[in-house]
Amino acid sequence: MISAIVVAAGKGKRMGLGFNKLYAKINNKEIIAITLEKFEKSNYVDEIIAVVAKDEVDYFKINILDKYCFKKVKITEGGIERQNSVYNGLIACNNPEIVLIHDGARPNIDDDIIKRSIDAAKSIGAATVAVPVIDTIKIVEDGYSVETLERKKLYAIQTPQSFKYDLILKAHEYAIENKIIATDDTQLVEKIGHKVKIIEGSYENIKVTTPKDIILLNSLAATNL
Ligand code: CTP
Ligand code: MG
Repeated sequence: MISAIVVAAGKGKRMGLGFNKLYAKINNKEIIAITLEKFEKSNYVDEIIAVVAKDEVDYFKINILDKYCFKKVKITEGGIERQNSVYNGLIACNNPEIVLIHDGARPNIDDDIIKRSIDAAKSIGAATVAVPVIDTIKIVEDGYSVETLERKKLYAIQTPQSFKYDLILKAHEYAIENKIIATDDTQLVEKIGHKVKIIEGSYENIKVTTPKDIILLNSLAATNL
């Protein structure tokens, strides 16, 4: 059993729409529907857990689940932070061998990334999609550069992140016990001393965060989505 958790319970504050950015449309389809369709159509994925904000569950059921006739999607409620939403998703899974955790806000994934993520999780236990950074990255303190990092060692981390189910559940439970907050799930696995494999992904797998990302994805849509 392979499960995919798609987290969709954020507020989308930086997008500034006054509603969850995942219901904004690209090429006339809601971002969350585009993302879920990638997993729905994948032969590698058996179940999808959509993590939805409590007060958006009814809206999601009518306007996404029923409208697009998703068959593999189950709904669970989100939490205050992304990490809480992911944990709720993990609890809702049907005891899979492998789980993929993916941002609802990254609609531009493809089946090859899904397959390579599952394969890496099966052999190594934990993996994340990432791309080499393009810009030079510096550590800045009080407005002055204090250090320039070695660019060839730097990767921008994306999702999906993929894990053996038992490992990621253990990592989340360790984080809860020890009050560890992380910005992604692979950090939690690192905290319990497990290696995380980097899978090279695509620069087009952007996370829709600000209005310019919608413009960018609309222009990529003709070829990719
Ligand atoms: N997310 C979630 N539960 C939360 C916070 C975030 O499920 N409590 C999800 C978002 O819906 C999104 C993904 O995690 O798909 C990545 O988060 P981000 O891009 O930060 O989205 P938002 O938190 O919605 O945006 P913002 O930070 O601008 O409010
Ligand atoms: Mg956020």
